[in-house]
Amino acid sequence: MAKTAELIIDGKSYKLPIVEGTENEVAIDISNLLEEAKVITLDFGYKNTGATKSAITFLDGDKGILRYRGYSIEDLAAKSSFLEVAYLLIFGELPSTEQQKKFTDDIKMHTMVHEDTRKILDGFPSSAHPMGVLASMFCAQTAFYPESLDPNRSSEAVYLSIVRSLAKMPTFAAWAYKNAVGHPVNYPDNTLDYCSRFLKMMYGLPAEQYDVDPVVADALDKLLILHADHEQNCSTSTVRIVGSSKASIYSSISAGINALWGPLHGGANQEVILMLEQIKNDGGDTEKWINKAKDKNSGFRLMGFGHRVYKNFDPRAKIIKKAADDVLNKLGVKDPVLDIALKLEEVALRDPYFIERKLYPNVDFYSGIIYRALGIPVEMFTVMFAMGRLPGWIAQWKELRENKEPIGRPRQIYTGQKLRPYVPIAKR
Ligand code: MLT
Repeated sequence: MAKTAELIIDGKSYKLPIVEGTENEVAIDISNLLEEAKVITLDFGYKNTGATKSAITFLDGDKGILRYRGYSIEDLAAKSSFLEVAYLLIFGELPSTEQQKKFTDDIKMHTMVHEDTRKILDGFPSSAHPMGVLASMFCAQTAFYPESLDPNRSSEAVYLSIVRSLAKMPTFAAWAYKNAVGHPVNYPDNTLDYCSRFLKMMYGLPAEQYDVDPVVADALDKLLILHADHEQNCSTSTVRIVGSSKASIYSSISAGINALWGPLHGGANQEVILMLEQIKNDGGDTEKWINKAKDKNSGFRLMGFGHRVYKNFDPRAKIIKKAADDVLNKLGVKDPVLDIALKLEEVALRDPYFIERKLYPNVDFYSGIIYRALGIPVEMFTVMFAMGRLPGWIAQWKELRENKEPIGRPRQIYTGQKLRPYVPIAKR
């Protein structure tokens, strides 16, 4: 007997189907509620509302669990690679040796971008935020690959769009950085692996030998794995709702990049460093700023602490913390901002005020620290997040299309004026 929930409105009973997931999550299916009961539900920010069924990522905010296609984030961060995780998220299974080689080689074939993309890049002043440049260059790919405007064209065409997206993201990201610093762009060196290729495009200078530090490349690969997907977060939900209108993969991803840009989402790692620099420039008195954070009238909030989904700890933060410690030690980085970060972390992990409010250091806190230690400029932090999140966006867009999900169209409760007659301006 299928489980149901009962809703009683004005004495009338409505039976609503109960849906249960693989990990025993429970939802009330309200798909027919408006038709049957002439009512809708209201849930600002959809924090209690499921938009879809997905087999890609499972997370448990209470237990601090995060799994991609059933594999724990701890296992994948320790044993896998970013491109292998990308394959897993997008195609559902870990690749065989042959599948991984083909995937990696196919990506290498497409790391170059159409030279006319340079004209788009050149139109941006150096003051342009790299996220705006990235989103524009991604959407512009619809112009160079117009066949992508039909997302259902064929599985081969979808595969090609997927490979092109993964291949060109590091090139676009490095070019957005070069535009910000006013340096000439570099072209991809396909003799290198995914992260090393990006680092060389980002930091390489004309006529100079650039040797990628394997410690930095390995740390970056791990960071990208940790950011690869996170079920229906803001930017992924944006990719899905744009994709639900049958928009191309490139415009859907471009929308996701723009959603990620916000300081409440992917921009949080940039805000962490700006906060730490504010504390340093104020003399570095962490105790003073901890007390400001506790004073609700101060208007100051500690960035990088707590999480809207994880109630006890962010599993990614634990992994990144270890990676940050390793990188700082291996690179011998000495940075007063990072010293302040470690002091804040130490206080947040023992102070009852933060413990009671679950304000523990999250993934943005540690990713901001490690990106800074890797020498990545703060304006590029959210671009790094986008590079990591790309396979998740692709996997969710592909799942939506394969499941033939309907166009997203939420409803509302109207609170405006009732009907009123038009009044000519002369009589107002
Ligand atoms: C993410 O990884 O997307 C962030 O933790 C935000 C979220 O999941 O809501």
